[in-house]
Amino acid sequence: MTRSAAPLLVALVIPLLTSAAGAAGDPGAGAEVARTWCASCHLVDEAATGPTTQGPPTFRSVARRQTKTPDELRGFLTAPHAPMPSLGLSRVQIDNLIAYIESLR
Ligand code: HEC
Repeated sequence: MTRSAAPLLVALVIPLLTSAAGAAGDPGAGAEVARTWCASCHLVDEAATGPTTQGPPTFRSVARRQTKTPDELRGFLTAPHAPMPSLGLSRVQIDNLIAYIESLR
């Protein structure tokens, strides 16, 4: 290998490794998905701290539940249960959403 190709190879391989580890969601992209797909039912913004008296939990309240691990969130978002509909999210969207929800903690 030539010397000049090595940094390029490293730049290509590192993102592959980190995304294979599964914890490389992008919170900014997750926030976009949340506003587009979730805000019709959930209060998704950071400012939404207060409890709602009925209906779906705010994302911040989900984030604050200590028992809600990223793995559980992934399980739920892969196959939500009633009354929440299944939204057919991709793995990348789910990783990004988890990163966003975690960022609200
Ligand atoms: C059509 C309305 C609707 C949409 C759209 C929706 N949700 Fe929900 N979601 C609900 C309801 C209702 C619940 C409460 C479920 C329950 O009480 O068991 C819920 C619960 C949840 C929970 C908590 C699950 C738990 O175990 O407590 C999470 C996390 C969640 N939604 C994430 C999302 C995300 C992320 C999106 C967008 C990709 C989304 N929801 C879109 C209605 C919706």
